[in-house]
Amino acid sequence: MKILGIESSCDETAAAVVQDGHHLMSNIVASSMDLHVQYGGVVPEIAARSHIDVVLPVIHQALQAANCDWDDIDGIAVTYGAGLGGSLLVGVLTARTLAIIHKKPLYAANHVLGHVYANFLTSTTLPGLAMPLVQPKFPMLAVIVSGGHSQLALFTDHLAYQLLGQTRDDAIGEAFDKVAKILGLPYPGGPSIAAAARFGNPLAYKLPLAQVAGYDFSFSGLKTAVLRLAQAQIGVGYDFPSFKLSERLTEAQKNDIAASFQYTAAKTIVTKVMRAYDEYGPGSVVLAGGVAANLELREQLSANLPIPLAYPDTKLCTDNAAMIATLGCYLATKETTADPYRLAIMPNLSM
Ligand code: KG4
Ligand code: ZN
Repeated sequence: MKILGIESSCDETAAAVVQDGHHLMSNIVASSMDLHVQYGGVVPEIAARSHIDVVLPVIHQALQAANCDWDDIDGIAVTYGAGLGGSLLVGVLTARTLAIIHKKPLYAANHVLGHVYANFLTSTTLPGLAMPLVQPKFPMLAVIVSGGHSQLALFTDHLAYQLLGQTRDDAIGEAFDKVAKILGLPYPGGPSIAAAARFGNPLAYKLPLAQVAGYDFSFSGLKTAVLRLAQAQIGVGYDFPSFKLSERLTEAQKNDIAASFQYTAAKTIVTKVMRAYDEYGPGSVVLAGGVAANLELREQLSANLPIPLAYPDTKLCTDNAAMIATLGCYLATKETTADPYRLAIMPNLSM
């Protein structure tokens, strides 16, 4: 079974073909990031217009790279939420149209669930991708860490899960992006913070670990603590404009703050993951979402867990359609098709 995946929830327009829920045949990602960098974040209208420009060529390339024509494709999976309204519309309307004219079943994919399913890809003929040798075992504890979500979910089987906890305020990726802004580091903040942190001391500053009951997270307090720390370092008060802080911080101070923030953000996740591991004894623990690319987080989790931590190749951690096509393969086994004449976008869809 070969599924074409289409993803357009944020600034990446992506298409991919996955066979039988584990084999990646093609993976095309076009990003409009370059157009957003000057604004310090994704501009929804610019992202949507860019999706319109490239969505068909990207799909065409994905089919070509997989050596497939439409006769070879058994179904189309598309992200219908969560995400930016205009961006989601382009992908969903494209997928609906293609499903109708090529007479293919359509599968509605939840973006966040898709991130988890990137972990089920175990083989590819594409160059430059490191794949795990085996698929994760159930029960599977999924640690979802992205720009829009921070969640812990326990899967007892494919598509059967229970949400254990989630962030009460900012997502972890959002915290990386906001701290990068305070430090004057370029967008997106995750990779910039990680790069600066390599030259800093993670123990230079003691930042607070949020105390939240159960399996929920909080990252807004940590972000504010970084702001106060930066203000204290240059000796200014709370009313000093945050966008001017970075001009007065030295390179060494920025690196130390980045390293200390990253260390604490990762530790926040590790604390909850270990509690869930001890309570539920899962057969596997998988990382999912853009922040799964973070090496400090991977290292801290690996050092604490008694079983190997699973995570996708870095290229499959951030937004892509390979994960959507993979999820589509499992949706197809459950025969949960969407109506190509009706599928609506759900910008606020949750797990
Ligand atoms: O999953 P994703 O591509 O988009 C959403 O669904 O939100 O995640 C994007 C987030 C951004 O906040 C970005 O700063 C973060 O992932 N990110 C990272 C790294 N690479 C991307 N955060 C920490 N370390 C990284 N290496
Ligand atoms: Zn994402």
